[in-house]
Amino acid sequence: MRFPSHGTPRDEVLARMRERKEADARWHEGRTFSLVYPAGPEVDEVLADAAGLYLYENALNPFRFPSLRRMEEDVVAMTADLLHAPEGFGGAMTSGGTESILLAVKVARDRARAERGVTRPRLLAPVSAHPAFAKAAAYLQLEHDQIPLGDDLRADVDAAADLLTDDTALLVGSAPGYPHGMLDPIADLAGLAAERGVAFHVDCCVGGFLLPFVERLGYELPPFDFRVPGVTSMSADVHKYGYALKGASVVLHRRRDWWFEHQVFLYDRWPGGLYGSGAMAGARPAAPIAAAWAVMTFLGEPGYLELTARLLDATRRFREGIDAIPGLHVLGDPVASVLAFGSDTLDVMAVGDVMDDRGWHLDRQHGPDALHLMVSPAHDAVVDTFLADLRDAVAHHGESRGIEARYS
Ligand SMILES: Cc1ncc(COP(=O)(O)O)c(C=O)c1O
Repeated sequence: MRFPSHGTPRDEVLARMRERKEADARWHEGRTFSLVYPAGPEVDEVLADAAGLYLYENALNPFRFPSLRRMEEDVVAMTADLLHAPEGFGGAMTSGGTESILLAVKVARDRARAERGVTRPRLLAPVSAHPAFAKAAAYLQLEHDQIPLGDDLRADVDAAADLLTDDTALLVGSAPGYPHGMLDPIADLAGLAAERGVAFHVDCCVGGFLLPFVERLGYELPPFDFRVPGVTSMSADVHKYGYALKGASVVLHRRRDWWFEHQVFLYDRWPGGLYGSGAMAGARPAAPIAAAWAVMTFLGEPGYLELTARLLDATRRFREGIDAIPGLHVLGDPVASVLAFGSDTLDVMAVGDVMDDRGWHLDRQHGPDALHLMVSPAHDAVVDTFLADLRDAVAHHGESRGIEARYS
């Protein structure tokens, strides 16, 4: 497309966008299982109103917009409270899980260099860790070592002990991991790291606003947050199970000086005055910060408990329904609302193709082949339709359009 040589009337601009949007996934009908985390029309309204109030501001300069600075500090503090960060922690809001992870890796790398003289830093993360860690290793020049998973699909602690070296800058565990929804053995991994003076990050991007409420609902979970002494940093995405708009995550460090020395950037060697920022971006949108603050304040603990109970119930129904279909089984024993299912006898990718034809969007996984579900509260209305379609897809997957394409 060339740059437009003339303007277009507003109505036509919007009509064209609406037309293009027709082809997008129908997330509000519960047809997608990640990417969007719908929490219902009431929450949607709060998000839209909050974002509308802050469409134009810029979070780069906290002194121009004190209301924004205050909300950002509140979001970081509320997240730290939820994850039991100790007195004297440091942290910031970022644009998402990937930025939070990049920053945690950077802080660990720079600490390893400053405190232990590590000049060829390595990153040690489970195979199931999010690709953001591989990206961080590539961007920030760390060697990336992968911990294999045990039969239970959690990071293998003995293998981690063998792979940990004096050059390891950061060891990682997920709470839970994206592919199978499993909670890595956080206390064991953190203990290993602490023994060797290595930093340990808990990727709680998915679990940050989920596991604390699962625990408060009375389910027993092994400790996964700053209550574990060796945990040095955590990431938690408000734009996932915090139900905020995209563009909102929090990275936390056990100690404020780690954040201040290795993450905060201050610069005055240019004519434009003192430039400072607490995370990677320069100019930053205000709407995700405002929406994050608004939804956390609006829902409070009772709201999150109610939504978590709803999605756990929906997950239980999905799990029982999937396990009851001959040939299919849920992989491992997922800790909350993220899971994958596969088969020893059926071509699950072909089952996924039939589900696609019926308007469901299931991510494909491999090693082993599996289909992925990330349940949100809105899914409680579609469990039965989904399971009926899945039963049918299993019965007819040999006839799917996709199978020919894949095997031809
Ligand atoms: C466990 C986990 N960590 C990190 C991320 C990265 O988050 P983002 O996509 O917000 O960058 C994701 C995304 O799904 C995730 O599931």
